[in-house]
Amino acid sequence: MSGSSNVGLRTDHGVVEDPERLAEFEARIAAGELIEQDDWMPEAYRTGMLRMAEHHANSEIVGALPEGEWITRAPSLKRKLALTAKVQDEVGHGQMLYRVSEDLGKTRDQMLRDLATGRTKYHNVFNYPAPTWGDIAMIQWLIDGAAIMNQKTLADGSFGPYVRTMHRINMEEAFHFRSGEDMVLTLMSGTTGQKRMAQDAFDRWWAPALMFFGPEDKPDAENLPAMKWRMKTVKNAELRQRFVDRFAPAALDLGLVAHLGDERDAFDRARALAGIDRARLVRYVRPGSRDRDLYSDGRARAETASGGGGVEINLLRVDGLDAALLPGARFLYLWSVPSSGG
Ligand SMILES: [Fe+2]
Ligand SMILES: [Fe+2]
Repeated sequence: MSGSSNVGLRTDHGVVEDPERLAEFEARIAAGELIEQDDWMPEAYRTGMLRMAEHHANSEIVGALPEGEWITRAPSLKRKLALTAKVQDEVGHGQMLYRVSEDLGKTRDQMLRDLATGRTKYHNVFNYPAPTWGDIAMIQWLIDGAAIMNQKTLADGSFGPYVRTMHRINMEEAFHFRSGEDMVLTLMSGTTGQKRMAQDAFDRWWAPALMFFGPEDKPDAENLPAMKWRMKTVKNAELRQRFVDRFAPAALDLGLVAHLGDERDAFDRARALAGIDRARLVRYVRPGSRDRDLYSDGRARAETASGGGGVEINLLRVDGLDAALLPGARFLYLWSVPSSGG
């Protein structure tokens, strides 16, 4: 399903590289050349690329696990066939990426052992549960959609074997995304129960989809090895904004979101709904939560200044995301109060 370029790159290995070879390497990168596995490369580049490809491979395999569990429960033969093909694709992506990683010097045996023992990681997004068919649809729409967005930029990278693998993987991801779009559209054109299932899943997956693009960029990201050596080509914040610009209007069109706006818009709307002039915004943070977001429990409540009454509105969870991550962002969404009509 999905790879990410946001795995941390540890590049300080205390290895002193030959300055002439390093200069030659960097000149090749600057000229847009591809680095091949037998070419000279700094140790930090080799270990960084290995870490990235291995993390990506792990994510493809682990990401396919919850989807595989849904094959027998798919609602129609058509969906069953499509999901079977998708799971097969994802495992295939994992295989191709383990090949790339092997060529960077780590055995497959060791990689699988490290994955099983937790020494290496996979993308965090695959730790979220997928309790309904709606989740499977949302994963294929939002997470495969996010993966394509990210992997398109990784295909502009500098390591030849990884770049070629990205081109191949992205063609298949495009099918996953199309199929996901069709699944979401079908649910949203269906019964009240189907719409509610899709809505619940959307509410669960929007924040993980945003977090898919990784943490806040370091201030000097362009000059750090990951970008300087074109292992990744676009900053996390920029990718996240592209995702929002593409998917927020789509969610609005589908009726999964009632309004697009920022915190101020949401608050003003809540006040208007309550028919009050003065209000304060109460921010809830789940006790003990490590999240630094304002909406950890998924809700913001506008209350009258006197403390009575008030109206509750739903805001999409934006875990860990605030103005610091996306200045001037349009990523906070307000949707209407859930009604019995779904
Ligand atoms: Fe995929
Ligand atoms: Fe994939």
